[in-house]
Amino acid sequence: MKEITVNRKDVYCGYLLLVNKDYPLKLFDIKEENLSRIQSDVYLENRAASMLRQLLNELKAEKKITAVSGYRSIKEQEEIYRDSLKENGQEFTEKYVALPGASEHQTGLAIDLGKKQENIDFICPEFPEEGICQEFRQRAADFGFIQRYEKQKENITGIGHEPWHFRYVGYPHSMIIRESSLSLEEYEEKLESHGYEENPLIYQKNGQRVEISYLKVTDGDIQKIKLEEDTICQISGNNKEGIIITKWQGR
Ligand code: DAL
Ligand code: ZN
Repeated sequence: MKEITVNRKDVYCGYLLLVNKDYPLKLFDIKEENLSRIQSDVYLENRAASMLRQLLNELKAEKKITAVSGYRSIKEQEEIYRDSLKENGQEFTEKYVALPGASEHQTGLAIDLGKKQENIDFICPEFPEEGICQEFRQRAADFGFIQRYEKQKENITGIGHEPWHFRYVGYPHSMIIRESSLSLEEYEEKLESHGYEENPLIYQKNGQRVEISYLKVTDGDIQKIKLEEDTICQISGNNKEGIIITKWQGR
Protein backbone atom coordinates (compact mmCIF):
# COMPACT_ATOMS: atom_id res chain seq x y z
CA MET A 1 0.00 0.00 0.00
CA LYS A 2 1.25 3.46 -0.93
CA GLU A 3 0.07 6.68 0.62
CA ILE A 4 -0.08 10.27 -0.53
CA THR A 5 -0.77 13.24 1.67
CA VAL A 6 -2.77 16.29 0.68
CA ASN A 7 -3.40 19.63 2.35
CA ARG A 8 -5.42 22.78 1.71
CA LYS A 9 -2.95 24.04 -0.91
CA ASP A 10 -3.90 21.09 -3.14
CA VAL A 11 -7.44 22.50 -3.38
CA TYR A 12 -6.14 25.32 -5.58
CA CYS A 13 -4.29 23.49 -8.34
CA GLY A 14 -4.91 20.69 -10.83
CA TYR A 15 -6.76 19.83 -14.02
CA LEU A 16 -10.23 19.97 -12.45
CA LEU A 17 -10.15 23.50 -11.06
CA LEU A 18 -13.48 25.26 -11.33
CA VAL A 19 -12.74 28.85 -12.25
CA ASN A 20 -15.56 31.39 -12.45
CA LYS A 21 -16.67 34.61 -10.76
CA ASP A 22 -17.78 32.70 -7.66
CA TYR A 23 -14.50 30.78 -7.52
CA PRO A 24 -11.65 32.99 -8.72
CA LEU A 25 -8.11 31.67 -8.68
CA LYS A 26 -6.42 31.82 -5.28
CA LEU A 27 -2.97 30.33 -4.81
CA PHE A 28 -2.65 29.27 -8.43
CA ASP A 29 0.58 30.13 -10.18
CA ILE A 30 1.81 28.40 -13.35
CA LYS A 31 5.55 28.24 -13.93
CA GLU A 32 7.06 28.94 -17.32
CA GLU A 33 8.44 25.39 -17.57
CA ASN A 34 4.87 24.06 -17.32
CA LEU A 35 3.76 25.90 -20.44
CA SER A 36 4.26 24.73 -24.05
CA ARG A 37 3.97 26.77 -27.18
CA ILE A 38 1.09 25.82 -29.48
CA GLN A 39 1.72 28.38 -32.20
CA SER A 40 3.21 31.92 -32.43
CA ASP A 41 2.38 33.46 -29.04
CA VAL A 42 -0.24 30.94 -27.90
CA TYR A 43 0.77 28.74 -24.95
CA LEU A 44 -0.98 25.98 -22.99
CA GLU A 45 -0.15 23.90 -19.93
CA ASN A 46 2.14 21.03 -21.00
CA ARG A 47 -0.32 18.14 -20.88
CA ALA A 48 -3.19 20.17 -22.34
CA ALA A 49 -0.84 21.27 -25.14
CA SER A 50 0.24 17.71 -25.88
CA MET A 51 -3.37 16.46 -26.00
CA LEU A 52 -4.44 19.35 -28.23
CA ARG A 53 -1.58 18.60 -30.64
CA GLN A 54 -2.52 14.91 -30.76
CA LEU A 55 -6.15 15.76 -31.45
CA LEU A 56 -5.35 18.26 -34.22
CA ASN A 57 -2.89 15.79 -35.68
CA GLU A 58 -5.40 12.94 -35.68
CA LEU A 59 -7.95 15.13 -37.46
CA LYS A 60 -5.29 16.48 -39.84
CA ALA A 61 -6.64 19.89 -38.81
CA GLU A 62 -3.40 21.83 -38.26
CA LYS A 63 -3.92 23.87 -41.40
CA LYS A 64 -7.65 24.34 -40.90
CA ILE A 65 -7.95 25.29 -37.24
CA THR A 66 -5.97 28.00 -35.52
CA ALA A 67 -5.26 28.55 -31.81
CA VAL A 68 -6.42 32.10 -31.09
CA SER A 69 -5.85 32.46 -27.35
CA GLY A 70 -4.45 30.10 -24.70
CA TYR A 71 -2.69 30.92 -21.45
CA ARG A 72 -3.16 34.52 -20.28
CA SER A 73 -1.48 36.19 -17.32
CA ILE A 74 -3.75 38.20 -15.03
CA LYS A 75 -2.26 41.33 -16.59
CA GLU A 76 -3.28 40.15 -20.07
CA GLN A 77 -6.79 39.32 -18.86
CA GLU A 78 -7.01 42.81 -17.31
CA GLU A 79 -5.98 44.38 -20.64
CA ILE A 80 -8.47 42.30 -22.63
CA TYR A 81 -11.25 43.19 -20.19
CA ARG A 82 -10.41 46.90 -20.23
CA ASP A 83 -10.05 47.08 -24.02
CA SER A 84 -13.30 45.18 -24.55
CA LEU A 85 -15.19 47.50 -22.19
CA LYS A 86 -13.97 50.40 -24.28
CA GLU A 87 -14.65 48.80 -27.67
CA ASN A 88 -17.68 46.60 -27.04
CA GLY A 89 -19.36 47.98 -23.91
CA GLN A 90 -20.29 46.41 -20.60
CA GLU A 91 -23.01 43.96 -21.64
CA PHE A 92 -20.86 42.27 -24.29
CA THR A 93 -17.77 42.25 -22.08
CA GLU A 94 -19.54 40.66 -19.10
CA LYS A 95 -20.95 38.03 -21.44
CA TYR A 96 -17.73 37.05 -23.23
CA VAL A 97 -14.77 38.10 -21.08
CA ALA A 98 -14.21 36.67 -17.60
CA LEU A 99 -13.27 39.05 -14.82
CA PRO A 100 -9.51 39.25 -14.29
CA GLY A 101 -8.65 36.62 -11.67
CA ALA A 102 -11.62 34.50 -12.72
CA SER A 103 -10.61 33.40 -16.22
CA GLU A 104 -9.83 29.78 -17.06
CA HIS A 105 -7.27 31.13 -19.50
CA GLN A 106 -5.08 32.03 -16.51
CA THR A 107 -4.68 28.30 -15.73
CA GLY A 108 -3.26 27.44 -19.16
CA LEU A 109 -6.03 24.84 -19.48
CA ALA A 110 -8.33 26.82 -21.79
CA ILE A 111 -7.96 27.37 -25.51
CA ASP A 112 -9.96 29.48 -27.94
CA LEU A 113 -9.95 28.01 -31.42
CA GLY A 114 -10.90 29.56 -34.71
CA LYS A 115 -11.54 28.30 -38.20
CA LYS A 116 -8.52 29.42 -40.19
CA GLN A 117 -9.52 32.38 -42.37
CA GLU A 118 -8.33 35.87 -43.15
CA ASN A 119 -10.01 37.86 -40.38
CA ILE A 120 -10.23 36.16 -37.00
CA ASP A 121 -12.01 37.85 -34.12
CA PHE A 122 -9.86 37.61 -30.99
CA ILE A 123 -12.71 37.49 -28.44
CA CYS A 124 -15.33 35.61 -30.47
CA PRO A 125 -13.55 33.59 -33.18
CA GLU A 126 -15.69 31.64 -35.61
CA PHE A 127 -15.77 27.92 -34.79
CA PRO A 128 -18.91 26.65 -36.55
CA GLU A 129 -20.90 23.52 -35.81
CA GLU A 130 -19.97 21.96 -39.15
CA GLY A 131 -16.97 20.68 -41.06
CA ILE A 132 -13.61 20.30 -39.36
CA CYS A 133 -14.63 22.44 -36.35
CA GLN A 134 -17.52 20.10 -35.60
CA GLU A 135 -15.25 17.08 -36.08
CA PHE A 136 -12.93 18.61 -33.50
CA ARG A 137 -15.87 19.16 -31.12
CA GLN A 138 -16.98 15.55 -31.50
CA ARG A 139 -13.53 14.10 -30.72
CA ALA A 140 -12.51 16.63 -28.05
CA ALA A 141 -13.68 14.57 -25.05
CA ASP A 142 -11.56 11.56 -26.12
CA PHE A 143 -8.57 13.81 -25.59
CA GLY A 144 -9.71 15.35 -22.30
CA PHE A 145 -11.34 18.56 -23.57
CA ILE A 146 -14.86 19.90 -23.05
CA GLN A 147 -16.71 22.74 -24.70
CA ARG A 148 -17.03 24.85 -21.60
CA TYR A 149 -19.72 27.47 -22.26
CA GLU A 150 -22.87 25.96 -23.76
CA LYS A 151 -25.95 27.97 -24.75
CA GLN A 152 -28.27 26.08 -22.40
CA LYS A 153 -25.91 26.55 -19.42
CA GLU A 154 -25.49 30.33 -19.65
CA ASN A 155 -27.38 30.91 -16.39
CA ILE A 156 -25.07 28.46 -14.58
CA THR A 157 -21.70 29.44 -16.03
CA GLY A 158 -22.47 33.17 -16.10
CA ILE A 159 -20.78 33.35 -19.53
CA GLY A 160 -22.39 33.54 -22.96
CA HIS A 161 -22.38 30.67 -25.46
CA GLU A 162 -18.76 30.27 -26.62
CA PRO A 163 -18.51 27.54 -29.28
CA TRP A 164 -14.77 28.35 -29.62
CA HIS A 165 -13.67 27.91 -25.99
CA PHE A 166 -12.41 24.47 -24.93
CA ARG A 167 -11.19 23.49 -21.50
CA TYR A 168 -8.85 20.61 -20.65
CA VAL A 169 -10.13 18.60 -17.68
CA GLY A 170 -8.58 15.25 -18.56
CA TYR A 171 -10.06 11.88 -19.47
CA PRO A 172 -12.44 10.36 -18.31
CA HIS A 173 -13.88 13.52 -16.74
CA SER A 174 -14.35 15.00 -20.21
CA MET A 175 -16.32 11.88 -21.30
CA ILE A 176 -18.55 11.89 -18.22
CA ILE A 177 -19.26 15.61 -18.59
CA ARG A 178 -20.19 15.18 -22.24
CA GLU A 179 -22.19 11.98 -21.81
CA SER A 180 -24.23 13.54 -18.99
CA SER A 181 -24.50 17.02 -20.61
CA LEU A 182 -23.30 18.76 -17.47
CA SER A 183 -21.55 22.08 -17.11
CA LEU A 184 -18.28 21.96 -15.17
CA GLU A 185 -20.11 23.70 -12.31
CA GLU A 186 -22.71 20.90 -12.20
CA TYR A 187 -20.10 18.14 -12.52
CA GLU A 188 -18.05 19.48 -9.62
CA GLU A 189 -21.18 19.70 -7.50
CA LYS A 190 -22.15 16.14 -8.40
CA LEU A 191 -18.69 14.87 -7.41
CA GLU A 192 -19.11 16.37 -3.96
CA SER A 193 -21.73 13.68 -3.28
CA HIS A 194 -19.19 10.93 -4.12
CA GLY A 195 -17.22 10.89 -0.88
CA TYR A 196 -13.76 9.33 -0.77
CA GLU A 197 -13.86 5.71 0.51
CA GLU A 198 -17.65 5.92 0.75
CA ASN A 199 -19.36 6.28 -2.57
CA PRO A 200 -16.99 6.73 -5.52
CA LEU A 201 -18.33 7.44 -8.99
CA ILE A 202 -17.36 4.51 -11.22
CA TYR A 203 -16.57 4.97 -14.91
CA GLN A 204 -15.93 1.84 -16.95
CA LYS A 205 -14.94 1.60 -20.57
CA ASN A 206 -12.88 -0.83 -22.67
CA GLY A 207 -11.81 -2.94 -19.70
CA GLN A 208 -10.64 0.03 -17.71
CA ARG A 209 -12.23 1.00 -14.42
CA VAL A 210 -11.89 4.48 -12.99
CA GLU A 211 -13.00 5.49 -9.51
CA ILE A 212 -13.65 9.18 -8.90
CA SER A 213 -14.28 10.59 -5.45
CA TYR A 214 -14.25 13.80 -3.43
CA LEU A 215 -12.46 14.70 -0.23
CA LYS A 216 -13.04 17.90 1.68
CA VAL A 217 -9.78 19.44 2.89
CA THR A 218 -10.09 22.21 5.45
CA ASP A 219 -7.40 24.69 6.47
CA GLY A 220 -4.66 23.06 8.55
CA ASP A 221 -5.86 19.57 7.55
CA ILE A 222 -3.38 16.95 6.38
CA GLN A 223 -5.23 14.02 4.80
CA LYS A 224 -3.86 10.67 3.66
CA ILE A 225 -4.93 8.86 0.52
CA LYS A 226 -4.23 5.13 0.38
CA LEU A 227 -3.33 3.45 -2.88
CA GLU A 228 -2.90 -0.18 -3.87
CA GLU A 229 0.46 -0.75 -5.55
CA ASP A 230 -0.98 -1.20 -9.07
CA THR A 231 -3.26 1.85 -8.99
CA ILE A 232 -2.57 5.04 -10.88
CA CYS A 233 -3.93 8.02 -9.03
CA GLN A 234 -4.40 11.61 -10.00
CA ILE A 235 -5.37 14.41 -7.68
CA SER A 236 -6.82 17.80 -8.48
CA GLY A 237 -8.27 20.56 -6.39
CA ASN A 238 -11.74 21.84 -7.26
CA ASN A 239 -10.87 25.44 -6.28
CA LYS A 240 -13.73 25.27 -3.77
CA GLU A 241 -13.29 23.22 -0.57
CA GLY A 242 -11.78 19.94 -1.60
CA ILE A 243 -9.96 17.65 -3.97
CA ILE A 244 -11.02 15.13 -6.59
CA ILE A 245 -9.27 11.76 -6.50
CA THR A 246 -9.17 9.80 -9.75
CA LYS A 247 -7.97 6.18 -9.43
CA TRP A 248 -7.32 4.03 -12.48
CA GLN A 249 -7.40 0.26 -12.51
CA GLY A 250 -6.85 -2.11 -15.40
CA ARG A 251 -4.99 -1.33 -18.57
N1 DAL B 1 -13.94 34.17 -22.64
C1 DAL B 1 -13.73 33.54 -21.37
C2 DAL B 1 -14.97 33.50 -20.54
C3 DAL B 1 -12.60 34.18 -20.61
O1 DAL B 1 -12.35 35.37 -20.81
O2 DAL B 1 -12.01 33.51 -19.80
ZN1 ZN C 1 -11.70 31.38 -24.09
